[in-house]
Amino acid sequence: MTIEAVPDALLKSAALARENAYAPYSKFAVGAAVESGNGKIYSGCNVENAAYGLTNCAERTAIFNAVSCGESDLVRILVLADTAEPIAPCGACRQVMWEFNIQEVILCNMAGSYKVFGLSELLPYAFGSEAMERGRRE
Ligand code: THU
Repeated sequence: MTIEAVPDALLKSAALARENAYAPYSKFAVGAAVESGNGKIYSGCNVENAAYGLTNCAERTAIFNAVSCGESDLVRILVLADTAEPIAPCGACRQVMWEFNIQEVILCNMAGSYKVFGLSELLPYAFGSEAMERGRRE
């Protein structure tokens, strides 16, 4: 994928959301935008809390925004931050991406570098709902 091929609408949407990052503790702003199967885009930013562990990353905010709008058929996500290398999503966000089967993950930085991954590359041997089919107690 060339830089021109980074989907412009997703990139702009993530950049706009990043402007709204609530990050008074880390001072590190992140934006994300997720695209549904019917081409709609939902964005999100990181939202921190004085109780640090309650922080919600931009990726999860975008995904939860989509789901809250009734959209759970999600196909790709773009993440944007001002990092030296394209931003690496945290493990919790990778797991939430897995829940919604988001196959394509586009990681970008503000300098225009990007990397594109399939989710299985980012989260090998993932835990999913099918794992519980056998192990549930009656
Ligand atoms: N953060 C994200 O929003 N997404 C990432 O992929 C990495 C980390 C946020 C969480 C926290 O607000 C700040 O960046 C520093 O960890």
